[in-house]
Amino acid sequence: MRYYPTPEAGLDLREVNRAVEEAFAEHGRGKVQMPPKVYINFEHGDFRTMPGYIPSLNTAGVKVVNVHPENPKSGLPTVMALTVLLSVENGIPEAILNATRLTDMRTGAAGAVAAKYLSPSDEITLGVVGSGRQAGAQVEAIAQELRIRKILVWSRKEQNSLAFCGKYSRFDCESVSLERVCDANVVVTTTPSRKPLIRDEWIHEGTHINAIGADAPGKEELDPGILSRGTVFVDDPAQAVHSGEINVPIREGSFTVESIRGTLGEVILGKAGRKGNEEITIFDSTGLAIQDLAIAGIAVKNGECINLKFP
Ligand SMILES: NC(=O)c1ccc[n+]([C@@H]2O[C@H](COP(=O)([O-])OP(=O)(O)OC[C@H]3O[C@@H](n4cnc5c(N)ncnc54)[C@H](OP(=O)(O)O)[C@@H]3O)[C@@H](O)[C@H]2O)c1
Repeated sequence: MRYYPTPEAGLDLREVNRAVEEAFAEHGRGKVQMPPKVYINFEHGDFRTMPGYIPSLNTAGVKVVNVHPENPKSGLPTVMALTVLLSVENGIPEAILNATRLTDMRTGAAGAVAAKYLSPSDEITLGVVGSGRQAGAQVEAIAQELRIRKILVWSRKEQNSLAFCGKYSRFDCESVSLERVCDANVVVTTTPSRKPLIRDEWIHEGTHINAIGADAPGKEELDPGILSRGTVFVDDPAQAVHSGEINVPIREGSFTVESIRGTLGEVILGKAGRKGNEEITIFDSTGLAIQDLAIAGIAVKNGECINLKFP
């Protein structure tokens, strides 16, 4: 068995986007096995297990990943992860990957694929809500698919959005109010908020939104009015209903499962999509095990590893 301590080294973001896109397409074709993730809850966070199998890639495994939003105060990432790949033929664990950075990259890739298909335009102003790891990953992955003319970013602590702008100055990045972020053509929301941050009246017609932050029950970043006014696509219906941006509105009765227009996989396959320049589209991302398998598949091809004895 091999352990990959830094499997992200040398990964090509465009290749990651394509691998994640193909995994979503297989999901859209109904050709993957992926039960919804299972949560264990703590007082200050949770961890999840995420199993999956993509027959076309002959890859199977499970990711174990935590979310502890207070971690940055003590210098730890909010999200840390390990992926285990198992042999499809005999079940032997073949590889263990440090999947912390891979999780950021595969989440960025999902947002990039959604933006590629649902953005109103190929040249965009990108609005970014939050300035942490997922915010950066969205920028880097979307930049592979669309031309980012400008970034408008908001963070609760202005020093963080200013630091973000320093990091992404090549995109003409400006730290702005939450309302002004919504002047962008594509808006990505990347916070662990448990109450809506983005008001319905701030979102212009034609905007595409990647709702990334809500990935557990009770999390919510958008005014539910945006979901009613717009068209909602999800990564996976079972996970989205349980823990995505739509989870609270469904529980409270302001959104229904029947209102989901389709999955990202179906969008990629041309079965669903944006219907015009005025439509508001929302991609509700909870994060899928098949994204982790797709990126792990690329990472183990060239990454440096340490051999571990097993069984
Ligand atoms: N959909 C997916 O596949 C996926 C994958 C990974 C992570 N996530 C989720 O994405 C979210 C962010 O993860 P991350 O790794 O980027 O964490 P992070 O690096 O800690 O960044 C979180 C950001 O949100 C801001 N923030 C924290 N609490 C907030 C609140 N209550 N209201 C408004 N802003 C708040 C922080 O900014 P300030 O410090 O300036 O407030 C920071 O910029 C989490 O909810 C995580 O579970 C989703």
